[in-house]
Amino acid sequence: MSGTVFELDAFNAVIVGNGALGSAMLEALLGYAGLQRVFVLARNFGSSEPEQHTHNDGLNTRATAGHNNARVSRLSFDAEDPSTIASAAAQIASQVDTLHLVFNTVGLLHDAQHGPEKRLQNLKPDHLLRSFQINALVLPLLAQHFSKLMKHTQPAILASLSARVGSIADNNMGGWYSYRASKAAHNMLLRTIALEWRTSHRNASVVALHPGTVRSRLSEPFLTPRYKNTVLTPAESATCLLGVMRQLSADTSGVFLDWNNQPIDW
Ligand SMILES: NC(=O)c1ccc[n+]([C@@H]2O[C@H](COP(=O)([O-])OP(=O)(O)OC[C@H]3O[C@@H](n4cnc5c(N)ncnc54)[C@H](OP(=O)(O)O)[C@@H]3O)[C@@H](O)[C@H]2O)c1
Repeated sequence: MSGTVFELDAFNAVIVGNGALGSAMLEALLGYAGLQRVFVLARNFGSSEPEQHTHNDGLNTRATAGHNNARVSRLSFDAEDPSTIASAAAQIASQVDTLHLVFNTVGLLHDAQHGPEKRLQNLKPDHLLRSFQINALVLPLLAQHFSKLMKHTQPAILASLSARVGSIADNNMGGWYSYRASKAAHNMLLRTIALEWRTSHRNASVVALHPGTVRSRLSEPFLTPRYKNTVLTPAESATCLLGVMRQLSADTSGVFLDWNNQPIDW
């Protein structure tokens, strides 16, 4: 087997989540002539939102990404209800025989009641459990339900957005218990899927990706004027992540890479 997913004359994709990075990845994929069908799984398609197309701040990309494009199908899914993953997968299986890319962008860092914990005393069991459900559990369920469609003789990629702070080796700062622990669990699940698929899905690359710090609803509260590191737009990050995925092969499955194609210690 040679070549990558993106060089195929015809390939099908699933993007899970339509936030900043999910929408930017959809836009980027639509630039490939070989893309036949792309299924977007999300809980909110923003039909009542005003038409906005703000590539620069990353916060308003959802409303128009892939709008009215015949290649795009939208399916309802809630990360907190595993049955919705099964039913979305069944609908997709009724429409395509093979999938070449499953790209998971779903994530939770904070919600209206909880921010990332600064110290142990801030840890709340409900938020820790919800973080595991959204950040960790979705990936193996996607792998289970899309396993059959990804098992074929062409290249395939199961990519899932992790975060550098999910690296146990890189944790020198502490804090952010729920996010760190759930992304670390995500990484272990991903690595274990990659090992199993080395024999069952010889065509597939399974990869954890750190998208960089990207302007989005998830990162917005932390991008204060004091934040001095590089901040990417969602479009910039999606372009870089596509560059990383274009260099993957099944032989190197089970890696954790950043947007610059640099490996991150687990
Ligand atoms: N932005 C960064 O700097 C950064 C850095 C490192 C890693 N990441 C990772 O990158 C991924 C994408 O983040 P982003 O920056 O694009 O943030 P975002 O715009 O907030 O996107 C997060 C996505 O997760 C979805 N989601 C959350 N809970 C859900 C649920 N219960 N059911 C269905 N969907 C749910 C959101 O859906 P709704 O829109 O419906 O809420 C949204 O589509 C996440 O995994 C994040 O951890 C981001």
